[in-house]
Amino acid sequence: MPTQTDRAPRTSAAATASTSGSALLDEYRRLTSTSARLAERARQVFPSGVTHDSRYLEPYPLYVERAAGSRKWDVDGREYVDYTGGHGALLFGHNHPRVVAAIEEQLRRGTHYGSGHELEIRWGELVQRLVPSAERVRFTSSGTEATLLALRLARAATGKPKIVRFAGHFHGWHDHVAFGLGPDNRPLSSPGVLAELAEQMIIAPPNDAAVLERIFDENPDAAAVILEPTGGSWGQTPIVPQFLRELRELTARRGVLLIFDEVISGFRVSPGGAQQHFGIRPDLTTLAKILAGGLPGGAIAGRADLFEALSFPSTGGPRRDKVPHHGTYNANPLSAAAGIAALELVATTDACQKANDYAARLRSRLQAVVDEAGAPWVVYGTFSGFHIFTNPEGQPVTQADIASGRCEWRSIKAPAKPGLISKLRAGMIVHGVEIFSWPGGPTSSVHSDDDLERTVAAFRGTLRRLRDEGEI
Ligand SMILES: Cc1ncc(COP(=O)(O)O)c(C=O)c1O
Repeated sequence: MPTQTDRAPRTSAAATASTSGSALLDEYRRLTSTSARLAERARQVFPSGVTHDSRYLEPYPLYVERAAGSRKWDVDGREYVDYTGGHGALLFGHNHPRVVAAIEEQLRRGTHYGSGHELEIRWGELVQRLVPSAERVRFTSSGTEATLLALRLARAATGKPKIVRFAGHFHGWHDHVAFGLGPDNRPLSSPGVLAELAEQMIIAPPNDAAVLERIFDENPDAAAVILEPTGGSWGQTPIVPQFLRELRELTARRGVLLIFDEVISGFRVSPGGAQQHFGIRPDLTTLAKILAGGLPGGAIAGRADLFEALSFPSTGGPRRDKVPHHGTYNANPLSAAAGIAALELVATTDACQKANDYAARLRSRLQAVVDEAGAPWVVYGTFSGFHIFTNPEGQPVTQADIASGRCEWRSIKAPAKPGLISKLRAGMIVHGVEIFSWPGGPTSSVHSDDDLERTVAAFRGTLRRLRDEGEI
C-alpha cells in the first residue's frame, strides 16, 4: 500500500462499514443514482471501478458529463462548484475559450507529426521565458515521467546513485517515488517496487536542515534532493520558506543537485512558479499540469550543462554515453497548442493572483464555519489551494502551527476517522460542491463570489449533517 506519499483519500478498509446506516449517504445515493449504475459497470472493468487512486470514493464516485468555467454537471444533471480542477491542471477553469480555440485549430492540422514542429519550440520558449532557471527544456507526457527523467539525469550527471526526498511529498507513481516510510523510518517499498531500488532513496523529515547535514555526511553518494517547494502533497505538509533557502545553500555547498518538483506549483504560485516567488534557483525543475493547458504533458527544465547528458554527440565527435529518453507523445502538437495558449494566459493575465486571492478568502470563510461548528478541524493552505485537516488526534492546532511546521507532518497525514472523509466529500456533493480527496482542492482564476457563497453554504450544511451523525 502506498503510504505517506500518495494522494489516495485518507480512508481505510473500515470505511465501508461506517458508511452504512447514514442518512447523508442515503441522500447521496438518491441524488446520484446514475453515477451508482455507472460505478457498478466500472467495477466490472477497473479495479475498484476507478482509473486513478485519488478518484476512489465510498460508496462510489461521481460521474461527470460536462464542465464549464468553475462548474461541472454530473450524469444526473446536477450542477457542482468544482474544486478538483483537472487535478490542478486547470488554472483558468474548464474550457477557457483561448485554450479551446487553440486545440480546435490544431486538431484540423494533425495530432501527431512524428517530426519536429514549430509549436514545440514556441512552447519550450515560453517555459524558458517564464521559469527563471529554465536554460534548457525537455518535454515528457506526464509529471510522473518528468520526475523519472529528472532523477535519471541527476544520477547520470553526478555519477551518484542516491536521491533524497521528503516524507509526505508526492512525485508521481514511478518506482523511485511510489513508497513511503516504514515504522523504523526506513524507506518501505510498495508491492511491485524492488527493495534494492527503495534502498537508493533516502526519505528525510521536512524542514530539518540539521538532519539533512547528517544525511549528506552519511551518504556522500547522494546525487540530488527532490521536493515540492510549497510543501508535500500541494502544501498539505508545508515547507517553511527559510528551510528552502537553507536547502539551496546546503545542497550547493555539498555538490548535491536541487530539484524543484513544480508539477503543481509551476505557473500557479506565480507565473514563474515557486522558484520565482521565493527567489531560489534550483538546478532542475519538473513541470506538468498547467504546462499543457489541461491536456497530457510534462517537462523538465534547468541548467544547460546538466542537459548536455541528453544530447547526441556532434557529428564526428567522440562517442559517449547518452541518457536515453523517448516517448511517443512528447511535445505532441495538440498538447503544445493547448500549452502555448495556457502559458500565454499565465504570462499576460493576473490568473495566478486571482486564484491565490480566491483561495485565501475561501480558507478564512471555511475556517469560520468550522469554528462556528465547534469542530477541532483546521482549514489551511497557501497560494491557490485549501486543505481540510480533520485533526483525528484532537490536538490543539492552528493554521499557524501547520504553516510553521510546528505541527509535524505525521500528525497531518495521520489517517482520519474511518469513513469521515468519504462522508465529508459525499456531503459536499449532496450540497452541490465537489472537493478533492485530500480533502481540499485547487482554486482557479474563474471561481466567483457566487461560487464562494455556495461553497461556504455547502460546507456549513455538510458539517451540520456530520454533527447530526456523530462524526464531529
Ligand atoms: C508534485 C507532483 N509531482 C508529480 C506528479 C505526477 O504527475 P502526473 O500525475 O502528471 O504523472 C504530481 C501529480 O499530482 C504532483 O502533484
